[in-house]
Amino acid sequence: MKKKLNVGIIGYGFMGRTHSNAYRRVANFFDVPYDPVLQVICGLEEKAAKAFADQWGYPSHTTDWRKVIDNKKIDIVDICVPNNYHAEIAIAAAQAGKMILCEKPLARTGAEAEPMVQAVEKAGVANLVSFNYRRVPAVTLAKKLIDEGRLGRIFHYRANFLQDWTISAKLPQGGMGTWRLDVKAAGSGVTGDLLAHCIDTALWQNGPIASVCAMTETFVKERMHTETGKVEPVGIDDACTFFCRFKNGSLGNFESTRYARGHKALYTFEINGEHASIAWDLHDLHRLSYFDHRDDSIVRGWRSIHVSDGDQPYMGHWWVPGLQIGYEHSFVHQVADFLENLGKGQPTSPTFREALATQYVCDAVLASAKKGTWEQVKAGE
Ligand SMILES: NC(=O)c1ccc[n+]([C@@H]2O[C@H](COP(=O)([O-])OP(=O)(O)OC[C@H]3O[C@@H](n4cnc5c(N)ncnc54)[C@H](O)[C@@H]3O)[C@@H](O)[C@H]2O)c1
Repeated sequence: MKKKLNVGIIGYGFMGRTHSNAYRRVANFFDVPYDPVLQVICGLEEKAAKAFADQWGYPSHTTDWRKVIDNKKIDIVDICVPNNYHAEIAIAAAQAGKMILCEKPLARTGAEAEPMVQAVEKAGVANLVSFNYRRVPAVTLAKKLIDEGRLGRIFHYRANFLQDWTISAKLPQGGMGTWRLDVKAAGSGVTGDLLAHCIDTALWQNGPIASVCAMTETFVKERMHTETGKVEPVGIDDACTFFCRFKNGSLGNFESTRYARGHKALYTFEINGEHASIAWDLHDLHRLSYFDHRDDSIVRGWRSIHVSDGDQPYMGHWWVPGLQIGYEHSFVHQVADFLENLGKGQPTSPTFREALATQYVCDAVLASAKKGTWEQVKAGE
């Protein structure tokens, strides 16, 4: 029989649901060496925590995250709370010897993230940051094509993450539901929330970023704060655009905003190499666009690969060729990889240390926008 690993998830919101779903389903679809067992769910409100526990089959719930850490039965602490709690919870969990999955961004700043990295490394506990888009099969396939050298030398990397949900000036900041608009809770706006995803994927696919030049804007300068009831200045970036130079010599171009009317979660990237190009779009996440200049000229053109075949990443674990999967599966893959690597005694990327590199790029982006200068990115290792 497989060893059971007891899981405590802190946060029963959006991510609490995706992670709960992942632990419940992973052993049905992947031959993982451990059986994760949902043991305790934690969140701010007692009634909502109990309702979540009942719905997802947790035997217990709590409103105090320290009880999850103090619980001797818990093997994995999974952090799905707003960014301002990540560091405190992760450091306490590491000191208690727990394995940790932490939602992104690792923290609000690089300086806040550094002691988290030190804590997990000192404790020697397995750790992973939930940059789940790496594990969308089409995105994983893109990485494979790059690693195989199919693109040749890479010239350009461009990525966008566009939303439109904060355009109304009536939307408050702070509190549940709108903590992302409160700089104290979120650390930054689209840079830490959305561009962090694009940066993580880019570093993974195209290597380190050396320097950045950014501009940000806060279109709505004051909003009612849910916690104080007062109209307060808005400290987050509503939109951010940055250029960068990768260490491999390629140029990067990134844009994110919550003011692109009509776009809900349009994460796209395109990579142009010497021989071939790749493009991906979250709204059509099971497809990968690929152009190869080495094809015969009479049939050369962009092809749209429907990533559903058994020999494409992760897909052999799901249905039959031609049947696609979706967003939630990226979280199942994340847990599957974590458990498989745990069985082999290996880390799973991105570890806290690897996610620190993303944090440093975000820091450089925000510093550049503030100063109006090019900024060097602190080295990740
Ligand atoms: N990987 C992704 O694509 C992705 C997507 C969305 C959010 N996130 C990240 O996940 C984290 C949570 O975001 P969300 O959208 O799930 O938020 P959410 O607002 O939906 O849920 C937050 C949860 O945290 C709980 N919480 C807040 N403060 C708490 C405290 N002090 N103690 C215990 N529980 C507390 C709330 O009760 C709630 O259940 C954030 O760091 C966010 O950046 C990642």
